[in-house]
Amino acid sequence: MRLIRFLQRPPIVDSLLVKLDEKRLMKFYLGTNWKMHRTNTEARQFVAEFLPLVRELDLSSHYLFVIPSFTSIQIVRDAVTASGLPLKVGAQNVHWENGVEATGEISARILADIPVDLVEIGHSERRRKFGETDTDVNRKARAVLDHDLKALICIGESRAEKEQGIGTQALEKQVREGLEGIPRKALSKVMLAYEPTWAIGVAGQPADPSYVQEKHAGIREVLTSMYSAKIAAEVPLLFGGSVNHQNFRSYAEIVNVDGLFVGRAAWDPESFIELIKISRCMNASLS
Ligand code: 13P
Repeated sequence: MRLIRFLQRPPIVDSLLVKLDEKRLMKFYLGTNWKMHRTNTEARQFVAEFLPLVRELDLSSHYLFVIPSFTSIQIVRDAVTASGLPLKVGAQNVHWENGVEATGEISARILADIPVDLVEIGHSERRRKFGETDTDVNRKARAVLDHDLKALICIGESRAEKEQGIGTQALEKQVREGLEGIPRKALSKVMLAYEPTWAIGVAGQPADPSYVQEKHAGIREVLTSMYSAKIAAEVPLLFGGSVNHQNFRSYAEIVNVDGLFVGRAAWDPESFIELIKISRCMNASLS
């Protein structure tokens, strides 16, 4: 069981105590998005190296996931299923329609049949390069939830929004519009990943942990006002953007950060295993 990361509880109000008590039960979410990174041959090599290393670890306090490109999902799915390991497999995108007239797209029905465990929606690269809007994100989330899959909804302000001092408002809009009309009972299948666009990728600038803390607290508040404190506390909030072995701990120990969503630093199997080990050490030292 994952314990809260406070050695001593500060004097806090009851609603926050509810939030922290919920957090005791929450696993640590740790996953990687392969983006457009691997061929099928490379995906086979990855699972051949990664899965035996995963087998040596106790992952009972983790929700561990890998999100390959569409073409490699089945390879990873089959290897993970054959291994019996509790690794989750995701897709990087989905189309909201189930009809046939959407050439080049993949529906939630197709993904559910593989089956994937989760679907990433609204990554900043999709928003920026392919013009995905909050309305698209909402449609995709509904389609995913309708097929009983988990939705990993990515949000994050742009550099311009940050510099104009409207980052918090931008995030609130993304949360409200992305989740519009999604009922309380479906929230148990929703995860949010806060990934400021200016922190992602080779040109990314790692965010200050205090900035992440403030933004995650704000996201939790928006969820509370949309649903309830209890439901908001149960939605895993992941952080992503230039997470690496050096800064991992500084993000993972933030109270409202329930997991980390990693790109480059988790693409190599051994490098990913090292990140898992860091988070396991943190749990052990605080339990
Ligand atoms: P990097 O960790 O490579 O910055 O990528 C993060 C990301 O985009 C995860 O979705």
